[in-house]
Amino acid sequence: MLTTLSSVLEKAKRGKYAVGAFNVNNLEMIQAIMVAAEAEKSPVIISTSEGALEYAGMDELGTLVHLAAVRSKLPIVFHLDHGKDVKLVERAIKSGWYTSVMFDGSSLPLKENIKATKRLVEMAHKRGISVEAELGAIAGIEDFVSVEARDAHFTNPEQAREFVEKTKCDALAIAIGTSHGAYKFKEASSLDFKRLQKIRSLVKIPLVLHGASGIPANVKKICIEHGCKIEDAKGVSDAHIKKAVSLGINKVNIDSDLRIAFDAGVRRFLSENPEVIDPRKILGPAKDLITQVVRQKMKLFGSAKKG
Ligand code: G3H
Ligand code: 13P
Ligand code: ZN
Repeated sequence: MLTTLSSVLEKAKRGKYAVGAFNVNNLEMIQAIMVAAEAEKSPVIISTSEGALEYAGMDELGTLVHLAAVRSKLPIVFHLDHGKDVKLVERAIKSGWYTSVMFDGSSLPLKENIKATKRLVEMAHKRGISVEAELGAIAGIEDFVSVEARDAHFTNPEQAREFVEKTKCDALAIAIGTSHGAYKFKEASSLDFKRLQKIRSLVKIPLVLHGASGIPANVKKICIEHGCKIEDAKGVSDAHIKKAVSLGINKVNIDSDLRIAFDAGVRRFLSENPEVIDPRKILGPAKDLITQVVRQKMKLFGSAKKG
């Protein structure tokens, strides 16, 4: 059943757990995530980036997600991830597919981010669609050598309070040291939990953690054994994800972990079965590995059995 981000996340906030938002680019990823959601009885957010829409098309992905959602009794959110182009966010709102959109104005000056977000929130709310917004730069903690540099890039708690009051957005993505992609930390995972606590105390709406992939060791090992060069990949530890959720994160975004699961499945199958040319056989193990990873995340975030 399709539902809004705000209904799923308000429930998660009350229950002190987080719901995973998983990026998809094709039919197989949608199927694998739905198998995981049904097995764990978990609500789920299915996200499409601008890149995913360029690759597969908004109507194509919208049709597939709607079909999956009407066949399920679980709460399913169909979400536009990181809409940076206002025109694309408007198109997504008007398309009839999405129950939630993210407007990412984080690279804009604060005033402009507030102005553009507020306008899109008004437009989306008229159609019963939720809006996630972003404040602060989601780039790794190790990108900033000094405390001053961190303060300038991570989400400022007071600004977050003002931003949410003025824009009336439904969820806020914050920067506390995570980054997108498979190379997040040179050393151990480390996040600014004090900042998260301060933001949580000032902002009442659900908070979102982007760049939250963990790069699970077992999946990374399969990739490397079968030729993928990702030796230095490092993600956020499970312990830190758990702590972030306990301190008030209610949406956790995962893309890279699905990519390496897909990659591991395809590489292993092809190297062990060089005579097979059937795409259905080649992609089967990739789907199974994605399902495994998503099930593990649902348990970790606490959303299992909450659907
Ligand atoms: O947050 C970004 C996601 O990982 C999407 O990546 O733009 O390559 O689809 P993409
Ligand atoms: P990862 O690259 O850590 O999976 O982050 C994904 C994300 O934040 C999508 O919006
Ligand atoms: Zn993101």
